Amino acid sequence: MLDDYGRNIDYVRISLTDRCNLRCVYCMPEQGIELLSHDQILNFEEILRLCQIFADLGMKKIKLTGGEPLCRLKVAGLIKQIKEIPGIEQVTLTTNGVELDKYWHELSDAGLDAINISLDTLDKDLYREITRRDVLDKVLANIVLAAESKRMPVKINCVPMQKEQKLYDVASLAKDYDIHVRFIEMMPIGQGKDFEFFSREATIALLEEKYGKLKPCTELLGNGPAEYYMIDGFKGKIGFISAVSHKFCHLCNRIRLTADGFLKTCLQYDKGVELRPLLRAEASDEELKQAIQAAIAKKPSAHHFEELAAEDDEQKNMSQIGG
Ligand code: GTP
Ligand code: 5AD
Ligand code: SF4
Repeated sequence: MLDDYGRNIDYVRISLTDRCNLRCVYCMPEQGIELLSHDQILNFEEILRLCQIFADLGMKKIKLTGGEPLCRLKVAGLIKQIKEIPGIEQVTLTTNGVELDKYWHELSDAGLDAINISLDTLDKDLYREITRRDVLDKVLANIVLAAESKRMPVKINCVPMQKEQKLYDVASLAKDYDIHVRFIEMMPIGQGKDFEFFSREATIALLEEKYGKLKPCTELLGNGPAEYYMIDGFKGKIGFISAVSHKFCHLCNRIRLTADGFLKTCLQYDKGVELRPLLRAEASDEELKQAIQAAIAKKPSAHHFEELAAEDDEQKNMSQIGG
């Protein structure tokens, strides 16, 4: 459906849980956060009911996120059921990859359409510092497993923070495998506010020093805000998601559902509608539809990351939103 600015909203990011088995420095405090209780989290029946209503409203793509979505049980079963909803064309997942080997076959068999795996560095010590867990080897093995099985497109998400991440090494995964590597500018949300800005231009300079000029790619890849480049001799592309330095809000096609059922209409603001009370008060599909439509219509025109904090800014961590 169209929002009041004429943007076609056809993509829903659904956070399945606020739990995570990592503690990335820009996403969660070391001690973790106060977690949602079992009762506060939408059950699969409630999620499926909302997906059906989203589809009726013209949503075509569902992205499952977390925290870490694979911390929730039976995700493959949920994917299979979402895929059966008429109108839903694509279900994809964004994961930290730690437990991927355990679920890879069921996720593929369930019809998962694509997967994004987060990886900020290939340096073992730095990976442990960034994620506060010593699991780089496991994640790398799982990236290779996913890439080599060729069951679905694979993309890597890397958030540049410092030169020591050796971003050209992360990019080299797109040389060795037919997968795309995307560099995501840190957004000032939650812990992300505490970092010095590392721009797309700084990342490009580091990559070009190693690999020569990046060539813009016009082919449309994925459903998101990433812009892609090619490097000679690479199998996959190099992408950039630069919400701060190259704002893409005018093209925004998405809304978010948090694990406890808040329909969030923009990453930066706490604006939207609580759907859980409606679901649990036995609201009709029509009532839910109207609440969702009213919230989407009022979706904010843009973020204001470049300005000072405002009263209606999101106070949650990224792990509670799903990116
Ligand atoms: P696909 O290309 O379809 O896989 O989608 P995607 O790149 O949007 O998905 P992913 O979950 O991998 O998100 C990658 C990064 O983009 C995360 O850091 C998200 O927070 C960020 N992102 C996704 N959507 C938006 C958005 O609407 N606005 C902003 N500012 N950032 C976004
Ligand atoms: N800014 C940009 N990206 C972020 N992610 C988590 N927090 C932030 C932030 N503040 C990324 C993760 C993951 C994706 C879902 O969001 O690295 O790849
Ligand atoms: Fe977990 Fe992802 Fe947040 Fe890292 S960025 S702590 S993997 S939810």
